[in-house]
This record gives sequence, C-alpha cells and structure tokens, in this order.
Amino acid sequence: MKRTLFLLALLLTLPLMGQNERQTIRSGELWPDNTGAHINAHGGGILTYGDTFYWFGEHKSDHTSNALVGVTCYASTDLVNWRNCGVALSVSDEKGSDIERGCILERPKVIYNPVTKKFCMWFHLELKGRGYNAARYGVAVSDRPEGPYRFLYSQRANAGTWPVDFREEELATVDTLNAANFREQWTPAWRKAVEEGLYVKRDFSTGQMSRDMTLYVDDDGKAYHIFSSEENLTLHIAELTGDYLHHTGRYTRVAPAGHNEAPAIFKHDGTYWMITSGCTGWAPNEARMFSAPSIWGPWTQHPNPCRGPKAELTFGGQSTFILTLGSQYIFMADIWRPNHPSDARYIWLPIEFEGGKPVVRWRDEWKPFSAKNT
Ligand code: GAL
Repeated sequence: MKRTLFLLALLLTLPLMGQNERQTIRSGELWPDNTGAHINAHGGGILTYGDTFYWFGEHKSDHTSNALVGVTCYASTDLVNWRNCGVALSVSDEKGSDIERGCILERPKVIYNPVTKKFCMWFHLELKGRGYNAARYGVAVSDRPEGPYRFLYSQRANAGTWPVDFREEELATVDTLNAANFREQWTPAWRKAVEEGLYVKRDFSTGQMSRDMTLYVDDDGKAYHIFSSEENLTLHIAELTGDYLHHTGRYTRVAPAGHNEAPAIFKHDGTYWMITSGCTGWAPNEARMFSAPSIWGPWTQHPNPCRGPKAELTFGGQSTFILTLGSQYIFMADIWRPNHPSDARYIWLPIEFEGGKPVVRWRDEWKPFSAKNT
C-alpha cells in the first residue's frame, strides 16, 4: 500500500519537476530567476569561476536609474537558469560616501585574481547629485565570488600620465592645444584637436574621465580596463596592476574622437575584437566593431556585426559584455527602459564568424553549449 502511494505521489509530481527549468535563451523577453522575478542585473558581465557562471549587473528600480540598491549577483551552471545570490556590492547610507545611495553606479564587471585569490569588481561611478560630471571608476573587492564586496576607492584615470603611444612628436603637438581655442565643437579643427589629445591634456593633472566600461583578462594573466573617456569621445584601454586593483599608468587610446560607448571585448585566434555602441543615451543605435592584433592596437574599424531585424539598432539594445566559452562567444546587450528601468531586457546571442569576422545574428531562442543552436 505504502509503495503504491509513493509511486502515485511520484507520478503526480513528475510533471512538476523541472517545470521551472528553462532550456533556451530568449532575448528581449522577461527572464525569470529561481524565484520567478525578472533578473535585475543590467549593464552586466559574467565571471566564470570553477563550473559556475556569476552574472553581475546594476540593480535597477522601477522609477529611477540611480543606484538605490547596488550591484546584484546571479549564479548558474547552464547560462539559462539563474539563482539570485542577492546584493554583491551594496550602496552606502553614509552621507558623502562615494557610493552613497542615489549615486549612479553602472556597468559593473568582476574578474578573479588567482595570485591574491580576490574577486575584483570595477564599475562606472557618478557621485550622488552630480549628474554624469564625476566620470569616475570605482573598485571593490571580495574573498567570495558572490560577495559581499568591500568598496575600496573611486577616482578618475591615469592622472599625470600620457598614453603610451604619445612619443616626442605627439607630445609636441598636444603641447600646442588649448581647450579655450576649441569652444565650438564638431568642427573639423575641433575633431582634429580631439584626435591629437585636446581632452587628454585638459584632464592630464586631475585624471582622465572614465564612464562606460568593461574588464578583460588576457591569456597571460594581464588585465585591462576599457572605458569611454574624453567626454565619451575616445575609448581608453588601461593596463591593471598584478592585483587587478589599480591602473599601472600604461594606457592607449582607441578610435580618438570616434564617440564610442559600451565596450565589449574578446579574443579569437590571436585577434582582439571589440564591439561598441555610439552615444545616444538610453536610445539604441548601430553597433560598431573594431579589431587589433594586440591589445595595444592598432585598432581597425569594421562594419556593424549585427544581422536580422533591427540590426541597424543593435536589435534595440546596447552592448555590455562578451562571454568567452572556449572558442564560443556570447554577445550580451541591454534593451534599456528608461521610464521603467527594472523592466529593461537582455539580448544574449552567439557570435558566429563569416569570412573571418564576427557576426551577431538575431535568434528568437537558442541553447547555449550546443553545437547546433536552435
Ligand atoms: C548610455 C550608457 C549607459 C548609461 C546611459 C545614461 O549611453 O551606455 O550606461 O550611462 O547612457 O544615459
């Protein structure tokens, strides 16, 4: 009798088991976590540690994009089903703290340092009540992937240092530039001056502006911070110290005056590929793509890699990260909802190669880890 009851119970519960397990990634749709709530980890990135993926992102509330909570963390082993691990880095209630509740804390990324055994988080930080004027990066650290992370400091980048590619000639040219002579923007003369380092010089002593960002760890263990600088006109790639907590002071500029944001990077067969966006705030625009034989350049621009409906608007999204899984790569982007920030959606699509170049093709749904994606 007991056995029959047990079998009956098993038969009844079988259809329920695994009911919440999703099989596919469906870009643009609500993406429920293990509690059924839409994942709240925007402008995010993934840390792979052991057999687990940790997704870090901005917690967004319903009515404001300012940080009222902090950086959230989710964990998964299949990239489809995510467990909510809570708040990894909390904003502070201390008045005047760099990360005071209500600040702007965007695009967090975490990398693991095998030497110090610390998890290192970098993010774009804007001080509370100062709009986007601070243009700083922030750094936090933890002993465990999911946190809690301890905030270390925030500042502008590489104060008192010129880019590595500024040699005698470039230094002589930049020395002649004076921001007061270039008040009118978008003229050919202004553009040339920006390319030659107008804003690098302006911000030389206080440090370079640091907004949209990502992190990249190369095969040799060296890590880099890639960020929009110079009034969002030029990307900087800055080398990190061995503990991944500071800049070394060595940095290069990518696409000067090219107006790129939202950098995401990966390396395939020895070539570095970077996908970025233009600068139109929360509104989507056409993705850009660059490649280089070395992280230090030279960087060459290629056409938009997106294919499919709304490819000219990055499918309505803006790049945030590229996840490397061996020789597979996943392009991640955000569809922002500025009027209802927590309802922003995610675009995750596999990167394919055509004629040796990355292509991001829209798919309504697909399965990670399968050779033949549906
Ligand atoms: C975007 C940027 C976002 C956010 C937004 C604010 O261009 O990529 O991270 O800063 O502007 O308008």
